[in-house]
Amino acid sequence: MTIILDGKKLRDKIFKDLKAKLDKMNKKPTLAVIIAGDNPASKIYVNNKKKTAENLGINSFVTEYPSNVTEEELLSKIKELNSDKNITAILVQLPLPSHINKSKILNSISPEKDVDGLTTYNSGKLFSGEKPFVYPCTPKGILLLLDEYGIELEGKHAVVIGRSSLVGKPVAQMLLNRNATVTICHSKTKNLADITKTADILISAVGKNIVGEKYIKNNCVVIDVGIFRDEFGKLRGDVDFDGVSKHASYISPVPGGVGPMTIASLMINTLELFDNANKDC
Ligand code: GUN
Repeated sequence: MTIILDGKKLRDKIFKDLKAKLDKMNKKPTLAVIIAGDNPASKIYVNNKKKTAENLGINSFVTEYPSNVTEEELLSKIKELNSDKNITAILVQLPLPSHINKSKILNSISPEKDVDGLTTYNSGKLFSGEKPFVYPCTPKGILLLLDEYGIELEGKHAVVIGRSSLVGKPVAQMLLNRNATVTICHSKTKNLADITKTADILISAVGKNIVGEKYIKNNCVVIDVGIFRDEFGKLRGDVDFDGVSKHASYISPVPGGVGPMTIASLMINTLELFDNANKDC
């Protein structure tokens, strides 16, 4: 029998705990979000982040810029947010317009307010095995989901498809830090199915429907990070859910798997940064 890794259920449990904690706090965290351009999916994600934060009792505000925003404008806004004591978390929604240097913008965020864990400071901590201020949201959400279902990581072969800085690389490192044996595959990997078929845990973060039942071995744990709309407008993931779930021991659905866990992790990170900023008070 295949067990569904229910991200919504775990998200709701996390929100209940966070809300109880926030209700008792006099001073609340403030999450500042910057969005540039008019990517429709980004706008929906950002709205969702703001609403979720407010429902939990976290202050949140969004600064929007048009797609022709300059690096200077973004840098100057981030500088202002960095020096504002009331702002405890900063998020720059990705992707940024193509003329903007993403690393330059992300690295201008103070590491102790970097709620995505994407600055070189925080990712450097992660990749050197030290503790960053916070871990990137989607990888953190994936590990919380695996832990919730008691899925053992130590000594397991985890195969990650995708090498992005948002998901593939950090999740691979986090699995390695938990003593999994990790393989990263990407668009230039040859004979992908031969590798994925050796996975005890398969994490696909590509954004294309590529993982069919011939890609997995029996009883594999399958995590689907992809989310996109197919030609009929239906939300799809990287994984052929019906085919793969005939063989997998655990599988995360799309929607309702990793997506809700990403936002849950963002809220946890927001609170962690706030607690860190106030620990000496
Ligand atoms: N765009 C898609 N996912 C994310 C995320 O987790 N953080 C940011 N900043 N942008 C994203």
